[in-house]
Parts: sequence; structure tokens; C-alpha cells
Amino acid sequence: MRTQVGIVGAGPAGLMLSHLLHLRGIESVVLESRSRDHVEHRVRAGVLEQGSVDLLCRAGLGERLLREGLRHEGIELRFAGESHRVPMTELTGRAITVYGQQEVVKDLIAARLAAGGRILFEADAVRLAGLDSDSPVVHFRRDGREEELRCDFVAGCDGFHGVSRRAAPEGALTTYERTYPFAWLGVLAAAAPAVTELVYAHHDRGFALYSMRSPEISRLYLQVAPDEDVAAWPDERIWAELRTRLETVPGWSLTEGSILEKSVTPMRSFVVEPMRWKRLFLAGDAVHIVPPTGAKGMNLALADVALLADAFAGWYDRGRADLLAGYSATALRRVWRAQHFSWWMTSMLHRLDRDDPYETKVQTATLRYVATSRAYATSLAENYVGMPEV
Ligand code: APR
Ligand code: PHB
Repeated sequence: MRTQVGIVGAGPAGLMLSHLLHLRGIESVVLESRSRDHVEHRVRAGVLEQGSVDLLCRAGLGERLLREGLRHEGIELRFAGESHRVPMTELTGRAITVYGQQEVVKDLIAARLAAGGRILFEADAVRLAGLDSDSPVVHFRRDGREEELRCDFVAGCDGFHGVSRRAAPEGALTTYERTYPFAWLGVLAAAAPAVTELVYAHHDRGFALYSMRSPEISRLYLQVAPDEDVAAWPDERIWAELRTRLETVPGWSLTEGSILEKSVTPMRSFVVEPMRWKRLFLAGDAVHIVPPTGAKGMNLALADVALLADAFAGWYDRGRADLLAGYSATALRRVWRAQHFSWWMTSMLHRLDRDDPYETKVQTATLRYVATSRAYATSLAENYVGMPEV
């Protein structure tokens, strides 16, 4: 099999890259180890920055997004028994849209297949070869047989556990990382959201987040231990804990409903530099991870591939190598902005250390500063809705 750009991974990064390349007349093949059903139903992130919504709309993917996505103009912070709204749109002129990552993935798969795009599901990339030649090869396994995809370039969009990043030789890439001593228990519930905007709560018992997917479905998160066993969280315990951590506002109550899904996600900050080795270009979770507190993961993946698609178009249409050469440095500016913001939100909102009351006092002072200073609230807001330039 032969194509121009061989793409490993059908998450938001790989699929969006394939779509953007198609719009510019560049061919690609996407290899995805899981089934179509699996990738379309995996519950992941849910917040799109204004820039991501604009990008999806410009690429012709806005129809269902604008109809079903929930546009939010603020978020709420709860701490020390108080509630404060950060009026993001008033402060920045921009908004976010709540729309599940799996919905973005469904829209992208539908658009690629309708345009005759090639996505091979249950095709597991096992090895990349010839990356330092002008004809790299992705070796993949499908139906128990090993096959080859020959291409001009490989885009490694295969997430944190993928094979692409590991194809660069030892010492070629530098890793920067931090793990946090907690995880999130994520819950999807058939319960009408009891809030109209996302609520980020700082509580002595740990962080909680109230998000949503639709007028009928709530998406909730609780800070838990990094090695937490989901089995220790029967539904009643989840609701009781959410009630305690979120009920900082008199008269407010949680809407309960049946829990459809629960899972534990570790929290990690991770960046690999550069985002390129020879003819391998890395994008999305394959090359950087943020803790979910800043809601940046999916947005970074989309921003990476928007740059990469422009760079490939420069190469194929105009014989320009400079955009490909500059891809990593340009993308990393946004990546590190998001790294800082996600680390800052995470540090401000979680219970960091049970034995350090000083830490808690500083967190409360930081939250109160956001709540009372227009300048500081604007800093949070402009990062949250996404900075146009970084
Ligand atoms: N061969 C083929 N596909 C692979 C391989 C492999 N060896 N390894 C992993 N994959 C696939 C995974 O099954 C997954 O579908 O690569 C895809 C990577 O997709 P994502 O993990 O969704 O990563 P990305 O597209 O970068 O999107 C980042 O995902 O985890 C969230 O918060 C994160 O929102 C962010 C988004
Ligand atoms: C989500 O809705 O899944 C979500 C929202 C905000 C976050 C993280 C996740 O910070």
C-alpha cells in the first residue's frame, strides 16, 4: 500500500490531519489499532476552545457541532464555601463549546469515509522503518497478517501508548514530565445537569468537577488516589462524595441519576521535544499530555495538526521545506502555554498534601485573587478559551 502521508492513530489528531490534508488534495491513509465502534464510543474530553470550533467549522465539520454543542460563556469556581463566576466571554470576547471528543471523532470518521478516505480499523502499527530515507514504511498487522504502508512522511498520532514516538533513536528526543499524586474518577451519568456552566470545586476532601455532555447527561469528576480501584466506588458513594465536595452554595442540590460509565484517569504532564524526527512528525497525545484540569488535550491535538497540514501543503504545493522544518518549534509554543496553564489549574484546585495546611492557605488565596481581580481572572479566561497567538 502506498500514500503520501501515513497516519498512525484515529483519534482527533490523526483523523483531523487526514481530513485537512484531503481538503488540500493530499492523500493519506489512517491506521487505527481499535475498531470503529471502540473509537466512536470511548468517553474522553469534552471542551472545545473557540479556536478549535472555528477550525472545525472552517473545515466543514460544524453542522452537528453548532447544533448540539453547548456554548458556555463562563465557568464557576467553588471554594471555601463560596461560589464565583469567571465571565470568560465578557473578559475575552471568546467562548468554549462543550461537545464530547467521541462526537468530534464520529463527525471526522463520517466526513473521511464520505469523501472516500481510507481509514483502516483494527490495523495495529507495529514498527516504523526508513524514517531517515525519503520513503518511510509503517509495518502493521491486520487480520493476523503483517502488511506495509509506504509513504513520503509518517504522522505519529497514536497517543501516549503508541509506537511512533519510540521509533526515534535513543537520545534523539528529550522528555519533560511530571506525575501528580492523584487521579480523576470520571463518571458519566444519566442526570440532567444541575448547573448551566462547568463548576470547578476546591474542597478539603479533594477536587470535584461538574461538567456535562447534553441537557440529559452529566459528566462528573472526583479527585481520588492515583491507584484508586473503581470497584471501591459504588454509585451511592460517588453521589455522596460529589454532594459533599460540590455543595458549597446554600440551596444548591445535585441531580442524581443512573451512572452509565466510570473510570480512573491518571494525571500527568508530559512533553517530548522536538516533535519531529527526520520524516516522522508527532502530534497530539503521542508527544504531549496535560492533566485534564485545563481542558486542553483535544484542543492541542487539533492545533498541532492544523499546523502540520499547512506545513505538508507548503511542501507538496510549493516545494517549501521551511514550514515542516519549523513545525516543532511553532507547535511547542502553544504546547508549553497549555502545559503551564494545566499545571497551574491543577495545583490551584487539588488537595495536594493532607499534612500541609500552608499549601491550602496559598491555594485559597490564589482562588480568591482570581475571584476578585479582573486582571487575574482575565489570565485564567484567556487561557481557558484559548489564546489565538502564543
Ligand atoms: N497502531 C494504530 N493505532 C494506534 C496504535 C498503533 N500501534 N497505538 C495507538 N493507536 C491509536 C489509539 O487506539 C487511538 O485511537 O491511536 C489513537 C490515538 O488517539 P488519542 O489517544 O485520542 O490521541 P489524540 O488523537 O492525540 O487526541 C488527544 O485524546 O486522550 C485524549 O485528552 C486527550 O483530548 C485529548 C486527545
Ligand atoms: C469534560 O467535560 O470531560 C471536561 C471538562 C473540563 C475539564 C476536563 C474535562 O477541565
